[in-house]
Amino acid sequence: MATIAHARRRQVQDPFDIHEDVPPSTQDTDMNEHEGDEEVEEEAEEEVLELEEPDDQESNYSESSEEEVVDGNIQHDMEKLANTYPGFRQRYRLIKRIGEGTFSTVYKAEDLQYDRYDNSWDLDKDNEKWSPPPLKTYSAQSSMAFDATQSMEQVRRRKPKFVAIKKIYVTSSPTRILNELELLHDLRNCPSVCPLVTAFRSTDQVVAILPYFRHMDFRQYFRKMTPPDMAIYLRSLFTALSFVHARHILHRDIKPTNFLYDPDTQRGVLVDFGLAEREGVESKPCTCHDDPVARKTKLRAALHASLAPHNGYPKQDTRPSRRANRAGTRGFRAPEVLFKCTEQTTKIDIWSVGVILLTILSRRFPFFNSADDVEAMIEIATIFGQKRMRHAGQLHGCMFETTIPTVGSQGFSLERIILWSTCRSDTGEVLSDNEKQAVEFLNRCMELDPSRRISADEALQHPFLQMGLDAPAQQTEGADDDEMDILKV
Ligand SMILES: Nc1ncnc2c1ncn2[C@@H]1O[C@H](COP(=O)(O)OP(=O)(O)O)[C@@H](O)[C@H]1O
Ligand SMILES: [Mg+2]
Repeated sequence: MATIAHARRRQVQDPFDIHEDVPPSTQDTDMNEHEGDEEVEEEAEEEVLELEEPDDQESNYSESSEEEVVDGNIQHDMEKLANTYPGFRQRYRLIKRIGEGTFSTVYKAEDLQYDRYDNSWDLDKDNEKWSPPPLKTYSAQSSMAFDATQSMEQVRRRKPKFVAIKKIYVTSSPTRILNELELLHDLRNCPSVCPLVTAFRSTDQVVAILPYFRHMDFRQYFRKMTPPDMAIYLRSLFTALSFVHARHILHRDIKPTNFLYDPDTQRGVLVDFGLAEREGVESKPCTCHDDPVARKTKLRAALHASLAPHNGYPKQDTRPSRRANRAGTRGFRAPEVLFKCTEQTTKIDIWSVGVILLTILSRRFPFFNSADDVEAMIEIATIFGQKRMRHAGQLHGCMFETTIPTVGSQGFSLERIILWSTCRSDTGEVLSDNEKQAVEFLNRCMELDPSRRISADEALQHPFLQMGLDAPAQQTEGADDDEMDILKV
């Protein structure tokens, strides 16, 4: 028998509120029980996420038309999901699958009981442009007048409200699920961060309900972006990060599929706090936080020891292995994550934004394409050169050596890399002034030393992010197509 637990929507104050609708069966564990969890956090080192970019976003806009035929298997999964929770069908009308990640499947659904709740999360409610279609009798419904017996036809006369239903895979550890929901709850008032509306649990199945955010697949627009477009995109992303980082939270998985962006309205929201963590919680001191003199002394001692004569390697190495959180997506991991820094900071997210900007400027996606962390280090070393990479490793007490001939000592400037990748190096073309400013900003995001890397707050003050501030956001006519499709049903 399915039971249901959900965070009440009306109560938005602390603490994180979990409500049981019916008495739990003996099988159930409450979502906020930390202590009883046998399934302790996976070893941080194992927590490696190797994501391929999803291919299910068939059209430019992820929602396209609701009329499209939903694949039989997906339909079956949607039925199953709707049957998992008592009363689900009265609350939500599942429309289609909009995303499939490593830890979840996300569906678009209509929020049938929108009017019954506090909707302070709704970014659009104050500037609704929709007016009822002509020739249909429409009486404005008072927000409290919703009657559960209303027919679907009546519900559809109002502007439909959509949510994204994130069905978290049952294989995710309860600790991780709770961590994601708690962080989202803490971040509920941050601009550009997609807030949590509510969450439900039935036995081991948890779903998070988020406001639906219309966005376009990154691959559809990034090649067309001009420097002012990039600045607007990044300002939105850094606005989110500034709030997240001010709360000492590391997102850990910044990449295009986790920043939902609508090029028409030039609005974006940060999603997916599945790998996020609080700064310092899992940390152990790393030499990167020592003063440079102390670090040098430690390094010399380590180097001295490593130069002592070796008689091969011990079969059973009893030295403790270095454990550090490496969660994230390949190609977006900061050098300090690759070097297993044990005291990572919010700066890891800034590096990942740098990778996004490098992708846009170079018109290549994915820009980094390594199979593992060692290859990822080689890719970074190819650009920045062995010398700087060696220094970056030393910050965290690591030696970096390679005999790969393509990894030069000095590396290349990012400007050169961008000219090459956009096929302009042979023609003698140079970067435009705006692009040069973007590259100057990119250099600040891709500093190998996290302590020198720009912070989100500093980024928001950078001249590059002031670019395009005057450009008016466009609202295309098609923006409300989806809503209209439903009205025609
Ligand atoms: N609030 C939302 N509105 C619209 N689409 C969403 C929303 N949240 C997630 N998605 C879609 O689902 C995908 C996966 O969601 P995400 O939270 O990143 O899950 P995962 O942890 O599985 O990666 C996103 O890339 C996006 O396409
Ligand atoms: Mg994701």
